[in-house]
Amino acid sequence: MKKIAVLVSGGGSNMQAIIDSSKNGVLRGLAEVVLVVSNKCGAYALERAVKENIKSVCIERKKFKDDFSYNDAILKELKNSHADIVCLAGYMRIVGTNIINAYHNRVLNIHPALLPKYGGKGMYGHFVHQAVLDGREKQSGATVHFADDNYDTGKMIMQKEVPVFKDDTQESLAKRVLETEHKIYPLAIKKVIEKGR
Ligand code: GRF
Repeated sequence: MKKIAVLVSGGGSNMQAIIDSSKNGVLRGLAEVVLVVSNKCGAYALERAVKENIKSVCIERKKFKDDFSYNDAILKELKNSHADIVCLAGYMRIVGTNIINAYHNRVLNIHPALLPKYGGKGMYGHFVHQAVLDGREKQSGATVHFADDNYDTGKMIMQKEVPVFKDDTQESLAKRVLETEHKIYPLAIKKVIEKGR
């Protein structure tokens, strides 16, 4: 059984999908979520973690003198929880090199578009979906990839397309993509676990 830590900043619906899958879905018997770390103390994801009886901590960047010590505090929590895999799920910061090095090819991220298109700094949340609409794309989708210490550049693990319709708004497209995110994140984690066996 692999232990998963999830890093979040917001609502945590992807985190919830991973938890649900570990209980009743494709991750059942393969993985369990043992830790949730949020850099926002008011994040709804933290409430979800409490409801699920999963250890959760809030670690704010402003409490630390630099990025290294901030990431080091997170790394200590990961180690304390004996996490094997780190899943970024709506986590709005770059992960420190200290974490990436300690968890080489074991830090995963999900991005709400078909990378390498529509990724990079500033490409998050509704900005991604607006850019896809502005680009008059017929397809968008979700991508799970290994995280490195840059934005959205690590090796791809899994990708799934969703259609973009003529009358789509940021919101309607975001909703369709998010539903797909919830499906492929657990599948991508399963793929990583099975490959590592
Ligand atoms: C998702 O669209 C994810 O791809 C992006 O931020 C959103 C987070 O949603 N990085 P949630 O917090 O998992 O509900």
